Amino acid sequence: MSQALHPMLNIAIKAARSAGAIINRASLDLDRLQVNTKAPNDFVTEVDHAAEAAIIDTLLAAYPGHGILAEESGATRGARDSEYVWIVDPLDGTTNFIHGLPTYAVSIGLAFRNQIQQAVVYDPARNDLFFASKGRGAFLNDKRLRVSKRNRMTDALIGTGFPFRKGDDFERYLAMLKAVMAGCAGIRRPGAAALDLCYVAAGWYDGFFESGLSPWDVAAGSLLVTEAGGLVGNFTGEADFLHRREVVAGNPKIYGQLVQLLTPHSRLADVEPAGAPS
Ligand code: IPD
Ligand code: CA
Ligand code: CA
Repeated sequence: MSQALHPMLNIAIKAARSAGAIINRASLDLDRLQVNTKAPNDFVTEVDHAAEAAIIDTLLAAYPGHGILAEESGATRGARDSEYVWIVDPLDGTTNFIHGLPTYAVSIGLAFRNQIQQAVVYDPARNDLFFASKGRGAFLNDKRLRVSKRNRMTDALIGTGFPFRKGDDFERYLAMLKAVMAGCAGIRRPGAAALDLCYVAAGWYDGFFESGLSPWDVAAGSLLVTEAGGLVGNFTGEADFLHRREVVAGNPKIYGQLVQLLTPHSRLADVEPAGAPS
């Protein structure tokens, strides 16, 4: 891109690359990896913690007055009352990483008054940097991204994430999957939600949906989608998705069709907003 990057985006990129270096180094010797279980099927490694610490150190060195909402350390670092909150997933796709499957990413979004303004999703295995600033477009490395132009669900490639935690509502998910699967051209489940959203931005998927996601999974990727000309919302098609544990994204045509298929399965009637920064 020819324009200078926003200074806050530059800091986010620096933070993401330093985390990516930690992740890449650790990927060379996965046998030595110490894996802990947060909950059944929900894993964390010392790499997640080290990457998160490196990111937060970089962000707070530049912006000591900003808030932080990070997957592993929550809001324990950073200011409590700032209008700026960095939303950080240091390693999205930990299960893939542990298995040596090279589909994972660092995700950093900056919210200002709850609106995502800056976004970086860095795929360290491919050295692919997805980034966006509000109003200035979405990019992969030096290439401007646009969502796909496909407008028929029968032609659409759709990404998703399967439920995997104890207590997840598998039946509800299977009903959604059935509805989408029956109408589209194909379904993919790579295993890193932040990248899934970037794949929508890049036009590689025509749409994406998943339930059970946290703000750090979707904050950065959502700005990539909208800056590439796509739409993001919850299963009822409202813009309020960040803390709602339901996200659907797509090019405008496919987004609308996905919302129609997913609305009957939305949990929003019985779910309170989760993880909203206080
Ligand atoms: C996970 C990935 C995965 C999604 C899970 C997330 P993590 O993030 O994004 O694709 O299906 O719901 O928790 O735990 O690897 O950071
Ligand atoms: Ca994640
Ligand atoms: Ca993570």
